[in-house]
Amino acid sequence: MAFDFSGIIGQSARMQEIFAMLSLVAPSDANILLLGETGTGKEIVAHAIHQHSRRREGPFVVVNCAALPETLLESELFGHERGAFTGAVARKEGRFYLAHQGTLFLDEIGELSLTTQAKILRVLQSREFEPLGSIRTLKVDVRIIAATNRHLEIEVREGRFREDLYYRLNVVCIALPPLRERHDDIVLLTQYFLAHYNKKNARQVQGLDPEVLRIFRKYSWPGNVRELENVIERGVILCPADILTVKELPPALQELAGYPLAESRADECASEPSLVELERELILRTIAKVGGDHRQAAMILGISMEELSLKLKSYGGEA
Ligand SMILES: Nc1ncnc2c1ncn2[C@@H]1O[C@H](COP(=O)(O)OP(=O)(O)OP(=O)(O)O)[C@@H](O)[C@H]1O
Ligand SMILES: [Mg+2]
Repeated sequence: MAFDFSGIIGQSARMQEIFAMLSLVAPSDANILLLGETGTGKEIVAHAIHQHSRRREGPFVVVNCAALPETLLESELFGHERGAFTGAVARKEGRFYLAHQGTLFLDEIGELSLTTQAKILRVLQSREFEPLGSIRTLKVDVRIIAATNRHLEIEVREGRFREDLYYRLNVVCIALPPLRERHDDIVLLTQYFLAHYNKKNARQVQGLDPEVLRIFRKYSWPGNVRELENVIERGVILCPADILTVKELPPALQELAGYPLAESRADECASEPSLVELERELILRTIAKVGGDHRQAAMILGISMEELSLKLKSYGGEA
């Protein structure tokens, strides 16, 4: 089972389904619509599709449809002649033209005006267009991958998005799940980002305090993988030792730290298990959870492999 599709990390069932889907649709020439909240990986998925397509030798061109006002966006997409509008001091080739024989990634497609939508529809239908202020008709061969974090069906129903364009773009739709719906990926993503930011910052953070991992599983991650990545980068930079602890988390995550023992009265603690018993329980449970993978278990527990082996030896036959 592959946990990595062109740099897209994931071992959860949801991501495995997406990898399977990607290997089927990437080599086809179908237009693809990517849906998902911010930070779920729409752009890296778009790039991976291009890399696994027959167009991989061709260009991968990105246009963020939310970044520009209408005229400038149309000029980005279709190009313009010199003098086509105030400020058009020189002729400019559009991204549709630049993406010829490659892939055009239209990001934030839900933000397009109805006029621009009509112009894009025409390119998809006839494969031709005119740059702004031009009488030249250009022919292009591009595959479109579009992305949005809006509910396009609602946009269509409410008249803000053309239905015909929606169907043209949505030959295949891939919905990327939010991070809070795939907790199974948190450990793998954390390992991946720790390695990346250790290298970038010349640090050697080895793992997470178990409490940090507990918080990661509890948190709702509104910024999804991007937010997790930022939390790890910040943590690696702030971490004074080799284990990332709650102290290195941003305040919003620190708030989720619970210290129940601090509140309970001493007499209620009498029947509680000892620290050693708790530790043994946690270690065995973690190993079981990761299917016996000691390396991953050590990482989750925030201890070295040697430490883990020593502890397991001390438990004797049970381990
Ligand atoms: N499954 C993943 N594996 C590794 N890195 C990921 C994964 N998903 C997202 N990332 C990383 O998270 C960050 C955000 O990803 P990306 O830009 O693709 O998200 P997006 O869905 O396009 O977000 P937005 O809607 O805000 O533009 C990037 O740095 C990307 O590399
Ligand atoms: Mg994006």
